Amino acid sequence: MLEVRDLHSGYGEALVVRGVSLDVAQGEIVAVLGRNGMGKTTLIRSIMGLTPPQVRSGSITWRDESLLGLRPHDIAGRRIAIVPQGRRLFPSLTVTEHLTMLKGARAKDGWTLERVFGLFPRLAERRHHRGGQLSGGERGMLAVGRALMIDPELILMDEPSEGLAPVMVQHLEGIVRDLKREGLSILLVEQNLYSALAVADRVYVLETGQVVHQADAAALAQQTDVLFVRLGVS
Ligand SMILES: Nc1ncnc2c1ncn2[C@@H]1O[C@H](COP(=O)(O)OP(=O)(O)OP(=O)(O)O)[C@@H](O)[C@H]1O
Ligand SMILES: [Mg+2]
Repeated sequence: MLEVRDLHSGYGEALVVRGVSLDVAQGEIVAVLGRNGMGKTTLIRSIMGLTPPQVRSGSITWRDESLLGLRPHDIAGRRIAIVPQGRRLFPSLTVTEHLTMLKGARAKDGWTLERVFGLFPRLAERRHHRGGQLSGGERGMLAVGRALMIDPELILMDEPSEGLAPVMVQHLEGIVRDLKREGLSILLVEQNLYSALAVADRVYVLETGQVVHQADAAALAQQTDVLFVRLGVS
């Protein structure tokens, strides 16, 4: 469904993503693993049409249509959503305002406010709280809920487990599995090896902007020593 081929992308003179190719099929969870500064966010932002970075060459194809040159808004209109690194919430907007700012609370096919609150009862309890008053876990839920409100077929998640307590990471893993069961595709960027292996079907390892390893998650779980070396995990 998503097809990235020989993608080069970077900032000014600096090429950060250097020839990445990857695929995400319908209903598949694909993890991109890599240490700090390896180009994970640059890759995600390039797919979403966010600038900077600037895409230099290669292709990004979604349902047989090129996404290159489209604005983020147009890409969202093609049902691709992003859960950005650091969540990017608005401190002064309430939970409900975050969820409805893109399409209003009107009932619609697909994701509604009530359905997001069903998935995250905690957000329902906090619906009148402002972004700045939420805990890390609640912020993570809100970022995922906001992405769902555009009725995505593909969600790009940039380190959703970052800064979360283990129990919240597990909760989020459960949510990701639920979404997969509903047929959504997820491109999951992670530094957290175990969290990625817990949910992913396939894994790509990114090192200085290049894919240095790819495998089925089940196979990788049997040989984590490869990943330890690649990711500098000990
Ligand atoms: N706006 C920017 N301008 C210039 N260079 C940037 C910019 N954003 C990132 N870079 C550089 O690009 C490289 C890759 O950054 P990127 O944010 O893609 O890494 P990452 O894998 O997402 O890291 P992390 O795990 O820390 O989020 C780094 O060397 C970084 O300094
Ligand atoms: Mg990043």
